[in-house]
Amino acid sequence: DLKSRVTVVGSGNWGSVAAKLIASNALKLPSFHDEVRMWVFEEVLPNGEKLTDVINTTNENVKYLPGIKLGRNVVADPDLENAVKEANMLVFVTPHQFMGGICKMLKGKVTGEVEAISLVKGMEVKKEGPCMISSLISKELGINCCVLMGANIANEIAVEKFSEATVGYRESREIADTWVQLFSTPYFMVTPVHDVEGVELCGTLKNVVAIAAGFVDGLEMGNNTKAAIMRIGLREMRALSKLLFPSVKDSTFFESCGVADVITTCLGGRNRRVAEAFAQSGGKRSFDELEAEMLQGQKLQGVSTAREVYEVLNHCGWMEMFPLFSTVHQICTGRLKPEAIVHYRDHKA
Ligand code: NAD
Ligand code: 13P
Repeated sequence: DLKSRVTVVGSGNWGSVAAKLIASNALKLPSFHDEVRMWVFEEVLPNGEKLTDVINTTNENVKYLPGIKLGRNVVADPDLENAVKEANMLVFVTPHQFMGGICKMLKGKVTGEVEAISLVKGMEVKKEGPCMISSLISKELGINCCVLMGANIANEIAVEKFSEATVGYRESREIADTWVQLFSTPYFMVTPVHDVEGVELCGTLKNVVAIAAGFVDGLEMGNNTKAAIMRIGLREMRALSKLLFPSVKDSTFFESCGVADVITTCLGGRNRRVAEAFAQSGGKRSFDELEAEMLQGQKLQGVSTAREVYEVLNHCGWMEMFPLFSTVHQICTGRLKPEAIVHYRDHKA
């Protein structure tokens, strides 16, 4: 079979928009089969219907992306193994905390010929140290894995407002170009960059900066403070990325995945919004409670990423160099008050 078959593993807010982008291109491009499978973590809606059935009859993800048609060629499938069975291109896009379990379920179920891309912003911390999600996928499944990150608030792309994104690749530029082709539309401009770790660390670490920006908003500290937090955050992102992977390039931080994603997430993201509410409550309400109440099933990545980063900093003896990252974690756990977000010296990370 010379045509590629794509399966999207994940169907949350961004997962559904990714399926929509891919589905529109699969119809147009002769090198792809029309049908795009989407694995759905099955759930029963309040009216008793299964989410998968509703997606397949209405062509909408009524829970995570209401009001948007995904494209008739998107087929929702609640069976993970069945969903990936015939695909030679896999797009991973779930909250990062579920990726360990998903990889375990897929182990031995995909062949080495398959190409993958991760849209997941996050990392796992293992005994040996941090493991980026693309490496987790590569190692567990024995397949190559690119990443796609960028300033991409899903609801804005869903209504086809212009934005950019960055594909990070390890070896084959040709494969990166195939992913660029599959995602690009007139309103979604994708650029390939030969720096998979840099791109993925940008997408992951900016969620911690967004939590800090939310605290600043909740405390009504103003625009200058927020800009300072974004600048310090970007410096810490670059410093930590380079300590973890010396190959990371400075230029990556000027791509969509870097400065642009920091800006959009600190202005309009979910991490920012929930952190704002946390600071407004004086740290009295928990992130778990606020997430459940404000996001209705969507998941925050910044709080757990702050903890994972803290573990890495602690383990490596780097805490002093990353006052913003470490302060965010200590505020999230209640050890420090939200006001502490500006009570540190910039150690020039
Ligand atoms: P989301 O925040 O909408 O999360 C909800 C999804 O998680 C649902 O599909 C739900 O079924 C699934 N889920 C719940 N419990 C599960 C379980 N036990 N196992 C597996 N899945 C389960 O998800 P999203 O917005 O698609 O985010 C996925 C990734 O994309 C994240 O890393 C996020 O940072 C990143 N991202 C999101 C956006 C955005 O604007 N939403 C933009 C860019 C990147
Ligand atoms: P939030 O998860 O904070 O909404 O950020 C979405 C995002 O990654 C935008 O690029």
